[in-house]
Amino acid sequence: MICLVFQRTILAFAVLAAFSGSASADENKAARGAYLARIMACADCHSPRGPNGAPMPEAGLIGGNVGFEIPQAGIVWGPNLTPANGGAGSWSTEEIVTALTTGVRPDGRLLIPVMPWPAYAGLTTQDAEALASYLQSLTPDDNPVPGLIAPGENAPAPYFTIKFPG
Ligand code: HEC
Repeated sequence: MICLVFQRTILAFAVLAAFSGSASADENKAARGAYLARIMACADCHSPRGPNGAPMPEAGLIGGNVGFEIPQAGIVWGPNLTPANGGAGSWSTEEIVTALTTGVRPDGRLLIPVMPWPAYAGLTTQDAEALASYLQSLTPDDNPVPGLIAPGENAPAPYFTIKFPG
């Protein structure tokens, strides 16, 4: 009897394993990337914020609507990461991994480190590729996001800034 229960348990595990094995390696990679994106808070900067300023990760990585003013560099908004309009999701895996871990965009420009690439330099290749796979799997959304604004230019959208006391 015990032996039979044991055998059934083994069989159940075998069936489960067969089903999980049917999910393609790409899906597993993208799922790992989705998990990493959630805990690495990509949505804090790459998703719109609500009227109270709180992040809305459920809106997707379609680009931030509150930018960051960096002295001497200007104001920058978290770009749209979906595969639409040249967004990072349309880049090759190697281009995304390079941007995430070295801050270098495909056009050679170094990302302002509001984007925490100096910290992300510590990603394993496997995890960086999982994030790339996730971005590539996103539904394209052509939500427009302002480009980098030079210091002194008018901001077209709200932004965070550093206020010095005095
Ligand atoms: C604290 C805010 C912040 C967080 C958190 C953040 N980013 Fe960014 N990211 C930015 C900003 C701002 C830029 C644009 C910087 C620039 O143009 O110089 C950027 C740029 C990028 C780019 C280049 C896109 C382009 O079109 O140039 C990629 C790819 C990217 N981020 C992916 C991610 C991913 C994936 C995560 C989470 C694992 C993440 N970012 C977390 C703020 C952030």
